[in-house]
Amino acid sequence: MDKILVLDFGSQTTQLIGRRIRELGVFSEIVPGESELAPKLSADVKGIILSGSPESVYEKDAPKPDHALYTLELPLLGICYGSQRMMHDQGGRVTPHSKKEYGRARVFVTERSELLQNIPDGFISWMSHGDTIEKLAPDFKVVAQTENGIPAVVKHNSKQVYGLQFHPEVTHCEYGMDVLKNFALTICGAKKEWNVDAYLRAGMEEIKTHVGNQKVLLLISGGVDSSVAAGLLLKALPPDQVHLMYIDTGLMRKHESQEVEANLGSLGAVHIHHINAAADFLKALAGVTDPEKKRRIIGDMFIDVQEREVKKLGIKNAYLSQGTLYTDMIESGKGVGKKAHVIKSHHNVRSPLVEAKRRQGLVVEPLAMLYKDEVRSLGKKLGLSPGIIGRHPFPGPGLAVRILGEITDEKLAVLKQADYIYIDELKQRGLYDKIWQAFCVLLPLRSVGVSGDMRRYGYVLTLRAVVSHDGMTADVFSFPTTDLLEISAKITNSIKEIGRVVYDVSSKPPATIEWE
Ligand code: XMP
Repeated sequence: MDKILVLDFGSQTTQLIGRRIRELGVFSEIVPGESELAPKLSADVKGIILSGSPESVYEKDAPKPDHALYTLELPLLGICYGSQRMMHDQGGRVTPHSKKEYGRARVFVTERSELLQNIPDGFISWMSHGDTIEKLAPDFKVVAQTENGIPAVVKHNSKQVYGLQFHPEVTHCEYGMDVLKNFALTICGAKKEWNVDAYLRAGMEEIKTHVGNQKVLLLISGGVDSSVAAGLLLKALPPDQVHLMYIDTGLMRKHESQEVEANLGSLGAVHIHHINAAADFLKALAGVTDPEKKRRIIGDMFIDVQEREVKKLGIKNAYLSQGTLYTDMIESGKGVGKKAHVIKSHHNVRSPLVEAKRRQGLVVEPLAMLYKDEVRSLGKKLGLSPGIIGRHPFPGPGLAVRILGEITDEKLAVLKQADYIYIDELKQRGLYDKIWQAFCVLLPLRSVGVSGDMRRYGYVLTLRAVVSHDGMTADVFSFPTTDLLEISAKITNSIKEIGRVVYDVSSKPPATIEWE
């Protein structure tokens, strides 16, 4: 399949670049910006994009691409830092600029080029830079500039090598998709071969070849990702080879375990192992308040329980499968540049058992190249029920990261009940499917309230509802006020321990979706 390689230098929008290329129907792969290029340059790579970066090219430790990049005949597109990098590395000069440009800036075309084909002069671009190209590298020219006279698009005189100062991947950039389309389809000539059917075919083939006639163990959480991974494994392999294990941590939502079991049955699985390990998890978490520590404890306990149960099953040397997504890999700092930020440790990516299995070549992650919405499309193709596919994402550590501070049985019971009411109300009011992720968070504080003539000192519960494309960024859901007020009243009327309900109005960034 034709593909565009994206060299990641640590920009927050690298994943968006990859996504946008896929939206054009072309496969994209993000690799660390400093990767040695030769092993990555298979015949199907049709062009390379260099991402932005929080660094400046003139800093000593700023990430550099393999110098071989500049001797390739492939089309190149540098975005922001990527463009400055190309200038700096080939004899140009990049300096801090007194006129910093953040946000909207008009771009005026000074010379027509294939990259800006069919794009009107004076279009509004999206900028985010403090440095600028002061001197072009030899053989480059400016083909568009901003109203401040800053080079907005530079081009090599004879090669298909372009540099952009603006960010075409950001939705606020007018004609951004057209710029990427001109690059990927016209300049690189990449064929539109990327779609879910193609992924399904390739994914099944890969699973068959990788696993052969060995057994595979997939940990099921009940969420969309692991259900789709299960569906894919069951389609690629005889059901007898596929073992699905559901570890009930006690940190699942109300009725979730029962629903999971029913759903798994409908996927045609013949080996479903339901493990009730709530007591182990809650004991290990007693008194723990630090969020990353909670994640680590839960991750480790997963491994312990899994190892113990796998031993009982007698399938110790089985392949281990996970529903890890592309974004999980990226947010955990894997699969991208050395300097990528670790935002939260996703236990399913970094666990020692998984790493050990990975070293032995015994890990199967059939969704690791997919974004969330692509996973949903794949689930639909696999015939999963809309109830599973439309389910909001749920974090691996479960309700543990939604009870801020110490987890107690009482808090867990309160949160489960509140969350159940909230989600049920959203479904009944036709709001659930309009929201990307909704949940409750129990805060580690109480506030004074009054009911009847009595003062009460109850917990504060936060309602969260966000809209998002892939969880990398998120906006607050504009909740209809009446619904919000009625849901709040229903929660405080039904759960005496909750005295106050608040709605979280923070987007991501700067907040994250979860509170811990
Ligand atoms: P944040 O809170 O980082 O979440 O904006 C982005 C998406 O990831 C989910 N999430 C997790 N999933 N293990 C998981 O499997 C985790 O530790 C974890 N932390 C956050 C979160 O629910 C949201 O969908």
